[in-house]
Parts: sequence; C-alpha cells; structure tokens
Amino acid sequence: MKITLSVIKADIGGYVGHSSTHPEVVNTVKEYVEKEVEKGNLIDSDILTCGDDIAIVMTHTHGVDSELVHKIAWEAFERGTEVAKKLKLYGAGQDLLTDTFSGNVKGLGPGVAEMEFEERPSEPVIVFFADKTSPSAWNLPLYEMFADPMNTAGLVIDPKMHEGFTFEVLDVYTGKAVKLSTPSELYDLLALIGSVGKYVVKNVYRNYDGEIAATASTQRLSLIAGQYVGKDDPVLIVRSQSGFPAVGEILEPFARPWIVEGWMRGSHNGPLMPVSFEDARPSRFDGPPRVIGAGYQIAEGKLIGPNDMFKDPAFDKARQVAQEIADTLRRQGIFEPHRLPAEEMEYTTLPKVLKKLENRFYDTEVERLSDEQKIEKEDMD
Ligand code: 13P
Ligand code: 13P
Ligand code: MG
Ligand code: MG
Repeated sequence: MKITLSVIKADIGGYVGHSSTHPEVVNTVKEYVEKEVEKGNLIDSDILTCGDDIAIVMTHTHGVDSELVHKIAWEAFERGTEVAKKLKLYGAGQDLLTDTFSGNVKGLGPGVAEMEFEERPSEPVIVFFADKTSPSAWNLPLYEMFADPMNTAGLVIDPKMHEGFTFEVLDVYTGKAVKLSTPSELYDLLALIGSVGKYVVKNVYRNYDGEIAATASTQRLSLIAGQYVGKDDPVLIVRSQSGFPAVGEILEPFARPWIVEGWMRGSHNGPLMPVSFEDARPSRFDGPPRVIGAGYQIAEGKLIGPNDMFKDPAFDKARQVAQEIADTLRRQGIFEPHRLPAEEMEYTTLPKVLKKLENRFYDTEVERLSDEQKIEKEDMD
C-alpha cells in the first residue's frame, strides 16, 4: 500500500513565554485532527510537542501537498490559536501568517515535512522535532546518517546502502535546489551544507533504487514574512532499517551535540540537546535548543508509537556535554560567536544604533592632522 506520512508543525502560542505548549491548546489540536481520522480523511494521527511548537503527524493516501491534509492541519492550528488567544499565551497564532488558507500551508507559516512510499513488510520511521533552532540543524546529522561510514556501518555492510545516497540541497535565499550524489560528490555536498545560513538539506534518496529516505521542513519564517516572526523550528522524517540506516545509526549523531543557530530571540548559537518528550521544555536563556526523536512502526498506515527514542540513559552524556557547551557559549554574553553575526540575527537594533551615531563617526586619519594640514587636505580633495 502506498501511504503518505505528513508532519506539519507550528508555534501557535507559548506557555510560559516561548518555553512550552499549554495542554488545552494541544488537546484542541489533537481532538480536531482525531475527528478527521474518524471521518476517514486520514488513516491515523498523532500529536508531538517540542518546546512551544506543536507537530501534527498524519498518515493518509492523498499524496504529498494534498490540499485536504494541509487544510486539516491549518484548521486544527486555527482552533488551537483561538484557545491560545483566550489564555493570552505568548505569541498566540505566531506561525499562522495569514487569516485565509489557500490550498497549501507552505509559505503561510507552518513547517512541513512529508513523504509518500510503499509500506514495507516492516516500516520503522523516526520523526525528529526541534525547538530554538532552524532547518539547517539537520545538515550535520543527515550527512552523518547517510554519508559517513564512521557513523553508519550500513553504508559499508548493507548491499542496498552501498551505492550511497543523493542529497537534495536547497538554497533558502533563492529557493533553487541541487541534487548531489554521495559518496562521489561528498566534498561538494559538504562545501554547501557547511554554510548553515544558506543551504539546507531538503530530501535524501537511496541511490540503489531512488527510494525516499529522509525529508525535512525547510521553511524559513524570517524570509517568508520579511520580518522576525520566530525561528523556524524544524521537523525531520527518517526511514529506517533494511536498506536504510538502522535506528541506532540514525540516533547516533545526536550522541555528540553540535552547535546550531536559533537560541534566545532566534539570535544565538547553542548546542542541540537530545531530550525525552517530557524534558522538551527549554527554559534556560530560552534554551538550550532541544530535539526529540519519536519512533513509529507503520502498520497498514497506522502509527504504532511513538517510542520516545532519546529517553535512554545512553544519551545522558550528550545532555551533559550540551550543558558544558551551553556554559562556554553563555560566557560570551552578547558577543559573537554566541550571538549570531548581524546579518543572521532574527531581529536587531543595529541599523537604528548606526543611524543614531551616523554623524558622530569621524575619519581617524584626518583627526590627527593639524588645522593647516586639514585645510590643505580639503583643498586637495
Ligand atoms: P537484530 O539482530 O536485533 O534484528 O538487529 C539488527 C540490527 O541491524 C541492529 O542494528
Ligand atoms: P520560538 O522560535 O521557539 O518561538 O522562540 C523565539 C524566541 O525568541 C526565544 O527566545
Ligand atoms: Mg514561540
Ligand atoms: Mg519554538
């Protein structure tokens, strides 16, 4: 059976500030989507939360970019927003950038990751969901999962993986994409995706037969809205086992935290900390950035799960290391590289400060000259 797995997420109100979601809002979204399952519009659904973001996980047979499915998510988030507004939650309706749904949620604020595939005899998938970061947070782990044999033994051992994987990389500024096949074009891939402010991995395909292996949400809210409306906290779907990386190979990159953008006001770098569902409530300096891993077995389109993949003491060390990285970066205060460079910041007063000081900047070379020399220089100019 060909099924579609769609994950659509949005921040429709924080409780308290940007730290978490409110149960009444989450329940409202959940109940709306479950009614659509009862009506037969969806096969199954589940709701995940990470920090102040809510993700709707849906299985169905309508394919990717289905108006019906996108509308269900949109309506559910609108219902949730009404509750968030009543409770005056922070940034209620933050990610719903328009009042009217127009066929597809892309460009309207919510993040979307979806893939269609023939359900295998056993179909394990993992949905990753992160808060206080951006879609480029997946660049490094996707490289390790699908192109680094030191992380993923299957690239060497599994005949279906041995031909490698193709990465579809999106330039978030132009909207153009390029497909790069690994291992042959590995260095070209890394040349691009190391620039996390510009390039993000959108999809990964298996070279053996072209099967979809992973897909990420790549919406950049700041660019959609042309102004700061909150970081684009991302989701990622990864298929696992028999011809894809094993579950443990998919989780392994997260055992060694790396630094991502999006902490505090969307304007700081911080470590991505893998946590259990219940610990996905970032509070310290509004962070540090969090990621959860929700594992499902899909059976005739039904979502069997979720299994809370980072609820494992084997990830305690990663959490400890993330704390240490957090301390080191916090020591920098407002200074780079903790604070993002000016052009990457979600919002900034820098232009205003520069405008105010415009007439007070002077040429230090001219200042050293005597009055006579100054006149001479002016004449020459
Ligand atoms: P099992 O032997 O338990 O099926 O595990 C196989 C495997 O690939 C684990 O990574
Ligand atoms: P969110 O993107 O998770 O809403 O966080 C925004 C923010 O400013 C946190 O400090
Ligand atoms: Mg928020
Ligand atoms: Mg968020």
